[in-house]
Amino acid sequence: MKIDFPKDFWWGAATSGPQSEGRFNKKHANVFDYWYEVEPAAFFNQVGPDTASNFYNSYKEDIAMLKEIGLNSFRTSIQWSRLIDDLEEGTVNEDAVRFYNAVIDECLAQGIKPVINLLHFDLPVVLQHKYGGWESKHVVDLFAKFARQCFQLFGDRVTDWFTFNEPLVIVDGAYLYQFHYPKIVDGKKAVQVAYNIALASAKAIAAFRETNVNPQGKIGIILNLTPSYPATEEPEDLAAAHFANLWMNDMFLDAAVKGSFPQELVSIFEKDGVLWDATNEELQVIRENTIDVLGVNFYHPNRVQRPSVSADSLAVDWLPARYFEDYAMPGRRMNVDKGWEIYPQALYDIALNIRDNYNNIPWFVSENGMGVSREERYLNAEGMIEDDYRIQFIQEHLYWLAKGMEQGSNCFGYHLWTPIDCWSWTNAYRNRYGFISTNIHTQVKTIKKSGFWFRGVAETDQLEVPDALVKKWGEPSLDIMSMHVIS
Ligand code: BG6
Repeated sequence: MKIDFPKDFWWGAATSGPQSEGRFNKKHANVFDYWYEVEPAAFFNQVGPDTASNFYNSYKEDIAMLKEIGLNSFRTSIQWSRLIDDLEEGTVNEDAVRFYNAVIDECLAQGIKPVINLLHFDLPVVLQHKYGGWESKHVVDLFAKFARQCFQLFGDRVTDWFTFNEPLVIVDGAYLYQFHYPKIVDGKKAVQVAYNIALASAKAIAAFRETNVNPQGKIGIILNLTPSYPATEEPEDLAAAHFANLWMNDMFLDAAVKGSFPQELVSIFEKDGVLWDATNEELQVIRENTIDVLGVNFYHPNRVQRPSVSADSLAVDWLPARYFEDYAMPGRRMNVDKGWEIYPQALYDIALNIRDNYNNIPWFVSENGMGVSREERYLNAEGMIEDDYRIQFIQEHLYWLAKGMEQGSNCFGYHLWTPIDCWSWTNAYRNRYGFISTNIHTQVKTIKKSGFWFRGVAETDQLEVPDALVKKWGEPSLDIMSMHVIS
């Protein structure tokens, strides 16, 4: 059977500046550039961000390849540490302006919509060292200054803006679980950072509302939504899943879409003595500057159970995990290579949650994908990686997304992580996600089987659903072509 998607659906893929460009001609180091300088052993095979996938030098050829695999939209990010010379004054670097103009113009020339994000974990490290990074409200204001420059410089051609990618990952990585520099463990700071980032996003949106002259212009945020499912229907496990959803999903979603944080979560923070410092003026900025569109990154679900120890156990610090524990559900389907559960049905649950609880705001899948290591295992005689597992992964997720759209959820696109295999933080090049492979020694790029397959989907706006899948999950009664979809 075939599923028809709307004609103006975004078929694309996402990367970020720090993961693709390389450090060429960049004035400032971001937190990951710096961490690699001082501790290269923390990175897989000691590969750092210096070259990444060389996009700074090869953007023209790379964008031509995106065209070749049929993408009509492409997300990357503008690096704060590249664009801004004087971080206090917000003055711009001329080479960076030239570069980002060239990237945007090349995308448009190829008929590819440039979707631009402003922060993908890449805070300039000097702001961390000088002010404590996102702990500081001064840094919040500097971010808004940087954002304003982006809107003024590129807003005549860029219509689709996003403020942050996965803010929760900054909170978790840098302030709780030590996978982002500066690897602090401090629950109170973590909660303050979450608030400050929500505020920074709202202040950037305020700057957008003031500066944007493009009638097509829209702004949003990209959140990693990880639906949390309870191990059992018993009240203790339900409570664990409820808190996990509040912390992992609703905190940023509510702030971005509704302009306020969930009261229940605020009360828990208050009771636990970790509530953020907030002023009435700031809360008003958050209230008045909500998003137009939402990007949802979805990779895997979260299975949780009641904590095995009491919440008032003596711990050195406050961790959200005091209210829930991971649950390894027997019999779950896995991407065994990466160690993540595969549960595409969650995309349907996300779609309905947005429809029912978030004003059915227009949204798109801004990242989804399957990371696999040592993909050269799947090279065929012609030198192409036969990544049938990735094709199946995408088919399954599009199938459940389509079901959600059929139920009225206002989704307008699907982006894979990532177009071209790129550098991924401390995992460096361990997990490959792309439609196109990169040889990190020669920078030779080769389209994988999934890239050619995706071109077929994008060109026809049609997904061919394999019989096995229909047999397993049934035939959706789809009429999504006629749905209203923005973009
Ligand atoms: C996403 C991030 O959550 O995961 C990307 O937005 C990242 O920046 C991707 O590269 C894959 O991560 P990993 O660790 O599996 O390579």
